[in-house]
Amino acid sequence: MSSPKREKIADLLKSQEVNREVTAKGWVRAFRSNRFIALNDGSTLHNVQAVVDYENTDEDLLKRLTYGAAVSVFGQLVASQGKGQSVEIQVSRLEILGDCNPDDYPLQPKRQTMEFLRENAHLRPRTNTFGAILRVRHALTFAIHKYFTDRGFYNIHSPIITGSDAEGAGEMFRVTTLDPQNPPTTETGAVDYSQDFFGKETNLTVSGQLEAELGALALSQVYTFGPTFRAENSNTSRHLAEFWMIEPEVAFNDLTDNMDLAEDFLKEVIRYALEHCVDDLQFLHDRQVQEDARKPQNERNPMPLLDKLKFVAENEFARVSYTEAVEVLRNSKPNKKKKFQYPVNEWGVDLQSEHERFLVEKHYKKPVILFDYPAKIKAFYMRLNEDEKTVRAMDILFPGIGEIVGGSQREERYEVLRQKIQDFDIPEESVWWYLDTRKFGTVPHSGFGLGFERLVTFVTGMGNIRDVIPFPRTPQNAEF
Ligand code: 4AD
Ligand code: MG
Repeated sequence: MSSPKREKIADLLKSQEVNREVTAKGWVRAFRSNRFIALNDGSTLHNVQAVVDYENTDEDLLKRLTYGAAVSVFGQLVASQGKGQSVEIQVSRLEILGDCNPDDYPLQPKRQTMEFLRENAHLRPRTNTFGAILRVRHALTFAIHKYFTDRGFYNIHSPIITGSDAEGAGEMFRVTTLDPQNPPTTETGAVDYSQDFFGKETNLTVSGQLEAELGALALSQVYTFGPTFRAENSNTSRHLAEFWMIEPEVAFNDLTDNMDLAEDFLKEVIRYALEHCVDDLQFLHDRQVQEDARKPQNERNPMPLLDKLKFVAENEFARVSYTEAVEVLRNSKPNKKKKFQYPVNEWGVDLQSEHERFLVEKHYKKPVILFDYPAKIKAFYMRLNEDEKTVRAMDILFPGIGEIVGGSQREERYEVLRQKIQDFDIPEESVWWYLDTRKFGTVPHSGFGLGFERLVTFVTGMGNIRDVIPFPRTPQNAEF
């Protein structure tokens, strides 16, 4: 007897059509009373209940229905008598696709710590939490492409291997095929990269922005969505060495247009998730409420997840200049009481995450767009303001996250940009092509970068960025 084609559990649970033969395949989440299998295939958070006729089922087969075992069930889809589900499968035939020995299996059907699951990143997608995160991550990816597609942006694939350091922070991973034991050297004894694969020094990109600008200066509105790499030795809950970045770039946009775009974009993708990830976000919301209950009062989330997401999607962000923010910080209680690790005494200091979080969480109590930063603490490509001290930069700060977006209006004036490149000690031969665009039909233009994992962290309410990317890369860690 041949079985009908496999149907996804998500579809079976929604099915209005009962009393028909179906096949479902998945992994056992629970087997109760020698009768009820909770089967999950990852198509949804929810399990389908498969009811086994244990009296007519081989005892050995029943014993193999352990947590994590892969099975195929075949039978009638019927309206469920029990609570908690509208349909269930009355199993007439059962097949074990893959055994899972409970004595060896690292996952257990109980609460496991995030640290433990990180060490088992090859298996953690099978947990409810990671299933939900991965589905939300996918929905956000789609929402981002949809947002830009709907508005006439073109997706540009910027290169992953580059010869330039877009952010000028020198935090790059080298790409080379030279023999590390015995590299060719120049007369001065330095490694001779002219003999390397590309005939020059190359690295993994820290940003696709410079190439996105080239695209925007032809197609007007473009965006990138690609992996970026930063060798910063930051062991924090907000940093990855490999992360994904979305970088829209728009010709003719000034800084205000740029802020408008970024704010609308963030709200729209959050709304998309609220609308399309109802079950997963409810699960993550409940999970966060439970986790918070275990924590001391001052470490709890000030707003439960779903309320926070709605709040951000529905309220205007504060827009505050750097100068104003420094005044607020200087006069703030934690600064006066010397509670900040980095005190804010004078204009020009770089803001630390403690300052950003104070502004967002304590002072303005909503997302904040900071703009017009001192030129000295920002990248070379940002447009110089008339005061010649500040640049048209903007950072968007989110509660619990800190900086989620960094962007700017770009310096479109050839002479000014060339001077900046010299002042920042950037070798002109690494960016001659970038400078060229300012010689041939230059226009004002702006863009920003959204750290995708910071967005996913925010939307899922997870406490650590390592838990929102399938296989995190961080210092001392590239297993899996
Ligand atoms: O502020 P950043 O460095 O800006 C740029 O790279 C610009 N080229 C963007 C642009 O204007 N097109 O990085 C942008 C965002 C940050 O706001 C943050 O969300 C994220 O990228 N980010 C990281 N996310 C995870 N791990 C890291 N190590 C990150 N570094 C930056
Ligand atoms: Mg930044």
